[in-house]
Amino acid sequence: MDFRVLMQERKTLIDKALDYYLPREEEYPQEIHRAMRYSVFAGGKRIRPLLTLLTAEIFTPEWKRALPAACSLELIHTYSLIHDDLPAMDDDEYRRGRLTSHKVFGEGMAILAGDALLTLAFELLTDNNKGPSEFDSVYWQEVPPQTKLDVIFEIAGAAGVRGMIGGQVVDLASEGKKIDEQTLEYIEVHKTGALFKAAVRTGALLAQADKDSLRRLTVYSSLLGRAFQIVDDLLDVEGSEAKMGKARGADAKKEKATMVSLCGLAEAKSRRDQLYSQSIQELEYYGGKADQLKKITRFLLYRDY
Ligand code: IPE
Ligand code: IPE
Ligand code: MG
Ligand code: MG
Ligand code: MG
Repeated sequence: MDFRVLMQERKTLIDKALDYYLPREEEYPQEIHRAMRYSVFAGGKRIRPLLTLLTAEIFTPEWKRALPAACSLELIHTYSLIHDDLPAMDDDEYRRGRLTSHKVFGEGMAILAGDALLTLAFELLTDNNKGPSEFDSVYWQEVPPQTKLDVIFEIAGAAGVRGMIGGQVVDLASEGKKIDEQTLEYIEVHKTGALFKAAVRTGALLAQADKDSLRRLTVYSSLLGRAFQIVDDLLDVEGSEAKMGKARGADAKKEKATMVSLCGLAEAKSRRDQLYSQSIQELEYYGGKADQLKKITRFLLYRDY
């Protein structure tokens, strides 16, 4: 199957599941539910849940078991974007082709929508999910309790201060400063790499992959996560605003420390190329089984939006 068709198919499934897991807009208090749904359904690329599902698919035909955990990662990612855009952080007006959450709902509600998405993610992961939908009964109940705990630990760590939050802290603290390469690597590895790593490892854990595979895929996803942030930094200079759905030039305006500001465009691209080939090497072991993951990796790192 063409990887674009496959991506679209998986995205449709992820969107259906997210719609099921999120509270209805009509539910009281409506405004917070509207705000949560506004950002989740603004049209993100759904990369992290896709990576979870495609990784699980290398190992098992039962990859749909990974769907609730995959969705929990998208909820956490969306929360991180809502907060990242706040005036106290990157102060951005557009996200996923729409006005940012705080522009529409106000800062208080945007903060709460972020908080609510983060906690909903863990509710999903800890629910017995005995509901009537296929999204509860088939996909999560079958997972052994210890595996669920391992996945929760993985995702909590990645979202927390030793993961994404840590990266955001150093990102903020580095604005307007000349930082060294080690600090930049810390930012890339944590603010973006952590959720990528958790996405891939979650897929592997839920598919009961062995230790060697976990090690290999940890390397793959860490390299991919770093490269993904470098590409995000490149696109902030060269990308298409219309296709990205967010403003270009935001990093320069905020004097952000990025691979581009530290090393220039050409060097940033060459680092991206290096990280790409190193990451793909880790997938060679799986031969044709990792074909779709390889194609998506290439697409992610050489896209123009
Ligand atoms: C943007 O992530 C923020 C970064 C971590 C670089 P994505 O590029 O995955 O954003 P969406 O989910 O498609 O909107
Ligand atoms: C965001 O990095 C990383 C997050 C944890 C949200 P950026 O600040 O570069 O992401 P964009 O460019 O606003 O999407
Ligand atoms: Mg930021
Ligand atoms: Mg930002
Ligand atoms: Mg950026």
